[in-house]
Amino acid sequence: MEPMWRERGLYPFLGLLSIAALLYMNFGDRVTFPVLWQPRMSFVGTNSTRFVVIDQNGEQSTLYVNGWNSYWLMEESVWSNSRHRVSKMLKRGAEMGMTVCRTWAFNDGDGHNSLQISPGNFNEKVFRGLDFAIVEARKHRIRLILSLVNNLNAFGGKAQYVKWAKEAGFNVSSSTDSFFSHPTIKGYYKDYVKAIVTRKNSLSGVRYSEEPAIFAWELINEPRCTSSSSAPVLQSWIIDMAAFIKSLDQKHLLTVGLEGFYGPETTERSGANPGDWASSFGSDFIQNSAIENIDFASVHAYPDSWIPDADLKEKANYLSKWVDYHVNDSEYVLKKPVLFTEVGSSLHAKEQGTYDRDFLLKIVYDKIYESAKRRQAGAGALIWQLLVEKMEDYGDQFSLVAWEHPSTYKLILEQSCRLRSIFYEGKTNRKLNSGDPCFGLIS
Ligand SMILES: *[C@@H]1O[C@H](CO)[C@@H](O)[C@H](O)[C@H]1NC(C)=O
Ligand SMILES: *[C@@H]1O[C@H](CO)[C@@H](O)[C@H](O)[C@H]1NC(C)=O
Ligand SMILES: *[C@@H]1O[C@H](CO)[C@@H](O)[C@H](O)[C@H]1NC(C)=O
Repeated sequence: MEPMWRERGLYPFLGLLSIAALLYMNFGDRVTFPVLWQPRMSFVGTNSTRFVVIDQNGEQSTLYVNGWNSYWLMEESVWSNSRHRVSKMLKRGAEMGMTVCRTWAFNDGDGHNSLQISPGNFNEKVFRGLDFAIVEARKHRIRLILSLVNNLNAFGGKAQYVKWAKEAGFNVSSSTDSFFSHPTIKGYYKDYVKAIVTRKNSLSGVRYSEEPAIFAWELINEPRCTSSSSAPVLQSWIIDMAAFIKSLDQKHLLTVGLEGFYGPETTERSGANPGDWASSFGSDFIQNSAIENIDFASVHAYPDSWIPDADLKEKANYLSKWVDYHVNDSEYVLKKPVLFTEVGSSLHAKEQGTYDRDFLLKIVYDKIYESAKRRQAGAGALIWQLLVEKMEDYGDQFSLVAWEHPSTYKLILEQSCRLRSIFYEGKTNRKLNSGDPCFGLIS
């Protein structure tokens, strides 16, 4: 008797399958299979001081963000033997109810797994790593905030751009602040941004500019420009670059990547800065975030680094005010949403059995929740930063494997779910299935 599958015409299918298997066995790393199906997602927009998504029925819902940083997604996606870490992190992030992850879309210079080897010259293999990270994020319905360059030297940063210009024979001042002013260097950065934004994903075929799993672009991680009278220099750089990105991509939101310090001009806010030093970086939260093409404000929060000598109570008071000021300014002055894109606290410090980290994180989470309940500008927070096991090389004093810290894990999950319950308010059709991380946590 002939086997069933021959009669049913399965031969061609089995043939294809074995060709695929052969290709895979022979080329391993080099052959990647196209993604045939991706979950439907919509782009995130803003309406006044709120993030919104429009669902398939055209209904607009307000979105509050609980998220995290894992700056290493691209790096760990380059080689097939480490990609499982990226998949695991995104899966576990989704299991904590989180919806947004912030990560680096840059690695400049001749370092390990660098993406941009020299101006406009890319390592395709690393680019495919970024492609993978984006596809994998979408698979878990996570949206990414992609940062486009570093102010710091890690992964090249603005110093690498300045070095490139010098090596090419341009008359560049010795300060790395020429990143923000020298026409050649500004040109390098624009070329870079254009290559990223117009990139066609090798796995999904979707252009980055058309990819709903990208939440937003971030111009630069923690810009500082400290040379004398530098505030106008940074301000005009942001204006120029924001307009440039918007000319390439009108679908995605854009933010600066600020730490959130107030400049010397904003005297009524100088008390919010962690010290006088913080007003001397050429940045100003209000002025920089007010720029028309900047869709939402971004702020970081590191009381342990900024006021290291303060005790926990002082840090808590400080942090609480820091969040209030930025939420108020975003609500009443900027009239834009604000995301606390990095919230970090030392890993091991403990007082009376409670981790300082949990205590400080909860202050930010509570403030966001209170703001969200009032439909105000405090739109979300992203913890800095999460890892999976065996990633010590990527660690710093603020990095953790969340599921190894049950109290922090619980805090994150509960924040995700109470923000989601606001998203669900007024909606009739909101049954959670038992596999949902918020099942049982949202009434
Ligand atoms: C913004 O939100 C308000 C209040 O929910 C709504 O009435 C309005 O139509 C929205 N605006 C746009 C442009 O969708
Ligand atoms: C390089 O620039 C500086 C300041 O912008 C200028 O004083 C100097 O003359 C320039 N050098 C050359 C060789 O053009
Ligand atoms: C923020 O605004 C509220 C309401 O106007 C006000 O009560 C509060 O004092 C403000 N906080 C700061 C730090 O400005």
